This record gives sequence, structure tokens and C-alpha cells, in this order.
Amino acid sequence: MGSWDILKQIDDQRSTTEKYSWEGTFSDYLDVVHKNPRVADLAHARLYDMIIAAGSEEIGDTGVRRYNFFAQEMFGLEHVLQHLVEEYLSPAARRLDIRKRILMLVGPVGGGKSTLATLIKRGLERYSRTDEGAIYAIRGCPMHEEPLHLVPEELRANFKKEFGVYIEGDLCPVCRYKLAHEWGNKIDAVPVKRIVLSERQRVGVGTFKPADPKSQDVAELTGSVNIQALTEYGLESDPRAYNFDGELNIANRGVMEFIEMLKAEKRFLYELNTVAGEQTIKASRFALIYADLAVLAHTNEYEYNSYFGNKENEAMIDRIFVVRVPYNLKLHEEVKIYDKLIGQSQLSDDRLDLTKVHIAPNTLRVASMFALLTRIKPSKKSGLSLMAKLKLYDGERQVGDWDQKHVKELQDEYSDEGMHGISPRFVINRISSALVRNGRSCVNAIDVLRSLRDGLQEYTNSDEDHKKMLGLIDETRKDYDELAKKEVQRAFVYSYEESAKTLLDNYLDNVDAFCNRVKVKDPITAEDVEPDERLMRSIEEQIGVSENAKREFREGIMRSVASVSRRGGSFGVGSDERLKEALEKKLFTDLKDIVKITTSSKTPDAEQLKRINEVVERLVDKHGYCTVCANELLKYVGTLLNR
Ligand SMILES: Nc1ncnc2c1ncn2[C@@H]1O[C@H](COP(=O)(O)OP(=O)(O)O)[C@@H](O)[C@H]1O
Ligand SMILES: [Mg+2]
Ligand SMILES: [Zn+2]
Ligand SMILES: [Zn+2]
Repeated sequence: MGSWDILKQIDDQRSTTEKYSWEGTFSDYLDVVHKNPRVADLAHARLYDMIIAAGSEEIGDTGVRRYNFFAQEMFGLEHVLQHLVEEYLSPAARRLDIRKRILMLVGPVGGGKSTLATLIKRGLERYSRTDEGAIYAIRGCPMHEEPLHLVPEELRANFKKEFGVYIEGDLCPVCRYKLAHEWGNKIDAVPVKRIVLSERQRVGVGTFKPADPKSQDVAELTGSVNIQALTEYGLESDPRAYNFDGELNIANRGVMEFIEMLKAEKRFLYELNTVAGEQTIKASRFALIYADLAVLAHTNEYEYNSYFGNKENEAMIDRIFVVRVPYNLKLHEEVKIYDKLIGQSQLSDDRLDLTKVHIAPNTLRVASMFALLTRIKPSKKSGLSLMAKLKLYDGERQVGDWDQKHVKELQDEYSDEGMHGISPRFVINRISSALVRNGRSCVNAIDVLRSLRDGLQEYTNSDEDHKKMLGLIDETRKDYDELAKKEVQRAFVYSYEESAKTLLDNYLDNVDAFCNRVKVKDPITAEDVEPDERLMRSIEEQIGVSENAKREFREGIMRSVASVSRRGGSFGVGSDERLKEALEKKLFTDLKDIVKITTSSKTPDAEQLKRINEVVERLVDKHGYCTVCANELLKYVGTLLNR
């Protein structure tokens, strides 16, 4: 039939595979190199180019650069990734000595180290399928080595002059053997092919994880003697009797991830050290084998501290370039993490397809806020609450007496902020379990806070810790309560924006008259009347402008009205933060009673029912609620307002 989608996909895949299947001889390859010398780049340069190729941009005027390569998967770690790209990969790509160091990610569990490593591995696979990232190897080489290794040492200086390409490394034992015995020492005819890097095919991408040392052999890294072939060829030094299939061999040209590196035994670290520092692998009976790869290791904070605190490890430590990967500390970025994980849940576990469930507005924000409160450390500056600090970190322009200018100072107070606290994995597990337990179609902020609270027992390891965490849940809840009230009150106003604008215009007319000592026109009778002092004060009092300060405040507002209009704009509700807050509060105060009565009435009358239905509808249509969570929100706010 041929109409099955899967057949089409297989077909597509075959044709894309064909696209990469260039084959030729070494002399054909020289043409390729001549046209595009970058095909002969070493591993670090390839990684760097891959990241640069995806583009980057400066974030505001922060001096921080965001590299797009990571942007879909990693959130809130721009400064970390910038450090990795600019302080490690960039000089390593230029073959400075730093490339001889192992890149080691150090950070708390669930902070994204594995995700970052995977991103780089998958990225490299994809990059090798692009024109810019094309990569070639001697055909049949177990290490898919660079064909330029065929160029004899004596000619390399000339080669550099002619092609502008630096050649590093020598033929592997297998290719050396074949050159003599199969290819009759005719270098120009040696077969070359384009390769696609692939972890699954064990080409250019490897992973190593320490396991039980009794059962784990260094051969996993460096390859091993093929016993069967050995009986055939007789000599252990015959390359045909050796499998060059260790993780280090197959990762040649690309990258090897070394999971939980510091849990590994010395003998494994020794191999790693040699490959990183000297680009060689020692396989028994053979001379040193050249290998070109970036080693990307990771470890947790605890193991890092004990390893780096031990003088015996100095030689190894010298060979490591540490990049600290803390937890994200920005609220809106944390929300993105959960959004991402929820989006992926359908792929990972179909019993728990979070994409099929409604997640009420602010639910992820609340979960994120709690996570961040556990990570952020109390400032040493007096009068700055943890919550205020969180909001400053999140980019809020002004929080009390504090603003963005203070952020740098706050960050400098602790060098290990973000290295402790609750991990995204814990949070997402609690969100999932809220869903399972409720067996419902919708989960809201309160469900999640409850689930977080119930999960704390297994997470905290002392009563004191537990109590502290409960306190943070409380803080989060208080913040949410304010938000919930606002959300409902806003939905009660038929058109919030319009009401706010009307109130603003009214206020400005009066302030204008007040400042210029003139009268205002009454909108109904068209009579000239005194400015409406009561109206102005009822707004100003919302944000604590005192009777003595009112003139100054009003004049300030008039100045910014003038300055906005000089710049050709028009002064709106959002033009002045404080005034905006005052207008909002005023609108809500006026509404409070009606909201209170409507939402908490046990037996609403027809009028109230109609109102409730309208509000639910508005929450659903305009604000992302479903009918379940909209009704729950109203009930919840009703109890809040009646406390
Ligand atoms: N800053 C972050 N940005 C995006 N996702 C993150 C971030 N931190 C953690 N995660 C997510 O949390 C989960 C746990 O991260 P993981 O990479 O396994 O951490 P680690 O290897 O450091 O223990 C992953 O699904 C990861 O995508
Ligand atoms: Mg991990
Ligand atoms: Zn080879
Ligand atoms: Zn819902």
C-alpha cells in the first residue's frame, strides 16, 4: 500500500542518509579540504563552531550573552553557559592549552548537568549532518579517524602552507596495518567517506559511567583484545586481534560524556587524564594511539569538595576545568523549566501525560517560587526579605527601596548561592503526584503547594530543615493569596483596562487643575468646579502618599505626563509604576465588598449567580482558566476575603 506514515518516514530517512553518503579517495578528500578547510577541524573547534553557528545575542545591557544553541533547553543559566563557551571552548578551539583539560560540570543534583551534556552530544550529531559541520574519516577505521593522518610528518609543514590546515595525530594501528597490507602504501587511493556522528552507532559520541569496580574494566574505555581473532592471528600486537571499541576510541572526533566522574577509580581517571592531556590512548601492546575528543565530565558538589580538598589529587586537578552549574535563580525561567518538562512528559511516560491535564494559571509560578525560596540565601543587608530578593533576581525593577542596581551586590554576597535547595526534579515529581492523587483533569496552585508540603518529609533530613521548608511554603502561599485576589477582582471588573484608564484620566484632569490652580469642568453639568480632592486622595492613599507629600507627588506626575508627551507618547496606566499600583488598588478596594459577598455567599441569589457565571466565563475566556479551576479560585478567594 505504501500509504503508511511510518513508511514515508523511513523513506525520508533513507534519502537524508544518502545525502550524507559521500565516498571517495584520499585525493578526492584533499579537494574537499581545499574548498572547506573546516572539515579538518579538531573536536573542540567543531564544538565551538557548532555553538557559534546557532547564533547569540546580548541580553539587554547586562553584559551577558545568550547562546541560542542552549536556549530551548536550558533556562536561567546564561552566565554559566557564557563562561563555558567563552572561557573554555573558545580558547580550546584555538588550540590553546586549555583544550588539554577535562571540562567538568559541578553542581547540585537535578541542576541540569546531564541535560547540558546531552544537549551537546545531540547537537554534535545534528551538526555533523549540516554542510558547515560535515566531517570525513578513513573508511573502515574503528576510530573513524581524520584522513589527513595519512600525510607524512615531514610534509605537514608544507601542507599547512598550501591548505592552511594544521594536522595533528597519526594513523591508528588498524589503518597503519591496512595501508601497508591492503592499500599497498598508496596514500592517494585510501578510501575516505563522510561520516555522521551518532552515539547509537558509536561514532564520535560516547558516554561512560562508573559502575561496580569489580565488574568494570578499563577496557571499556580503551578497547580490548579480541580473543577469537587472537587465536587466528597469534600476536597480541596484531591490530586485527584488537577491538578498538572503547568509549575513548569511538568518541574520537567528538565528545565523551563522563558521568559522575569523581566516583570512578584512579585507573579510569588516569586514562582520561592521558587522553585529555596528551590526546593519546594507551592500549595494551600498541604504541600510544592518537585520539581527539572533548571530555565532558560531571559531578556533584559533595564529591567535588572532597576530591579537590585532597592534596593527593593535585596532578589530576590541574587537568580539570571546572564550570559550576548552579540551580536557576530566576522565577520566570523556573516556570519555563516546568513548562518544558510537562511538554516532554507525554514522551516519557504515557501513564502520566501532563500535557493532557489542565494546569491552572499561576500553578507553575507558585511551584517555582517555592523552589527558588529554598535556593536563595537571605541577604546580609537588613530589611530585604527573601521574597523581595527573589523578585529582584527575577528582574522586577523596583521592590521597596531596592532596585536592579543592587542585584550584582546581592549576587556577590554568596559564592555558593544556587548550589543548594530543592531541585526541579523534586518539584515536577510533586506536581505529577498532585495530579495522580487527585485523579482530576485540572491541578491548581493550592494542590501543588499541598503536594510539595506532603513530599517534604522524604526530602528534608532534620526537623529544623523541615520547619524551615514549611515556613517557605507559607511565604509562597501568602504571595499567591494576593495574586489570587487580584486575579478574581480583575475578572469582576467588566473591562479592567478600560476602568483603569477612565480612573486615570479623571485623576489627571483633577491633578492638572490642582497644580495650575484652576477649576475643572464637571463632566455632567459642565460647570467649573474645584478639583475633586476626595477622589485624588482616595487614589494616593492607596500607596501611602501623605497629605504633606501630595503636592510633590502630583507635581511629579505632571512632570512625567509632560515628558511622555514631549517624546510624542501618551501617558497611560502603565506609564508610572506607583500610580499604576494606586489605580489598581483603588479599583479593587471599590470592588472588594461586592466580590466578598458574591464569592462567599452560600446561597447566592439570581443576581449573584449571574455575576459569578460571568466572572467564571471571563476567567476562562481571557485568563487561561478552565471551569473547574475558575470555580475553585472563586471559592478560595471567597474564604480569603472573609477571614
Ligand atoms: N536550568 C535549567 N534549565 C532547564 N532545565 C533544567 C534546568 N535545571 C534542571 N532542569 C531540568 O531538570 C531535570 C533534572 O536535570 P538533570 O540534567 O538531570 O540534572 P543533573 O544531571 O545536574 O542532576 C532535567 O529534566 C532538566 O531538563
Ligand atoms: Mg545527572
Ligand atoms: Zn584508523
Ligand atoms: Zn483548570
